[in-house]
Amino acid sequence: KAKQRETLLEINRQAAQYFYYQLRRESGQIGYRYLTDRGLSDETIRKFGLGYSDKFSDDLYKFLKGKGYGDDQLRDSGLFNVDERHGMYDKFWNRVIFPIMDVNNRVIGFGGRVMGDGKPKYLNSPETKIFDKSRNLYGLNVARTSRKPYLILCEGYMDVISMHQSGFTNAVASLGTSLTSGHASLLKRYTQEVLLLYDSDEAGVKAALRAIPILREAGINSRVVDLKPHKDPDEFIKTEGAEAFQQRLDQARDSFMFRVSVSEKEFPMEEPQGQNRFFERCARLLLELSDELERNLYIEAIVRQYHRYGISVEDLRKRVNTLA
Ligand code: UTP
Ligand code: MN
Ligand code: MN
Ligand code: MN
Ligand code: MN
Repeated sequence: KAKQRETLLEINRQAAQYFYYQLRRESGQIGYRYLTDRGLSDETIRKFGLGYSDKFSDDLYKFLKGKGYGDDQLRDSGLFNVDERHGMYDKFWNRVIFPIMDVNNRVIGFGGRVMGDGKPKYLNSPETKIFDKSRNLYGLNVARTSRKPYLILCEGYMDVISMHQSGFTNAVASLGTSLTSGHASLLKRYTQEVLLLYDSDEAGVKAALRAIPILREAGINSRVVDLKPHKDPDEFIKTEGAEAFQQRLDQARDSFMFRVSVSEKEFPMEEPQGQNRFFERCARLLLELSDELERNLYIEAIVRQYHRYGISVEDLRKRVNTLA
């Protein structure tokens, strides 16, 4: 069992080296160019061990067979597709490759991006005996050693890499999978506070709303960063630069107040009826806070922020108490 894990780790390491080497070859120039066109430096490409899988569908297979691995071992690595007619063939094909490391810098899986608009945009290793997606975060092997008082949680490979390249070496990504309690307890080992930098589209807002209580449950404080009008951290940094990005981090919103402001947008606030339903929602959110002082502080904060609707601290507290 332990032996099997060791073998899978070895296969992944060999594959990572193979992809890395392919990126440096003449035939890998298209991959290298793709990455540098997206603003990555050679140093960054090396630091993250980025690679390239070429247009042949059996070269990785042959390479690893040549190293002496058997079909059963290779099948378990998740690096190959298997079908009756073609047997086993490379899963990653004509893509730039992002090796995924665990906190001990061991390669446990890969992501591969098309160099253009093809679909799917990213292919990822499936879960294997060594790759548990709900217990690993991309970039944490580096971010764990950053001495910032918080970690940055974002969606994607390129977000993490862009941020690291610009000095924000405390960034990690959950890679499109929604945040789990496994991720949260992993984060808790390294930090007390997380800044959420999910994409600024509807899916990103929803993901942030789901992540907040999961982090809270693990005892992690969270804040939400607004990247608008840009789509994600990578695009923000590319267009606005690191200084403006830092300013956005400094302006991160309290996650409770973020939930309140998302709620506000759900109601027709120009009518008393909408206002009433909004404050009802606020009362329900406040009810989740079991600590009385904390609840009082948020009652005050909501009243301060929405005083234009003429609500008082007493009104809101009364509303909370009628629900309790
Ligand atoms: P996004 O669609 O936001 O992509 O997905 P991105 O990270 O901004 O990618 P670029 O900048 O276009 O290269 C966020 C993350 O979700 C996962 C990937 O981990 C991606 O980084 N994802 C996305 C997939 O696994 N497969 C997909 O087809 C798309
Ligand atoms: Mn290949
Ligand atoms: Mn997205
Ligand atoms: Mn994105
Ligand atoms: Mn992006």
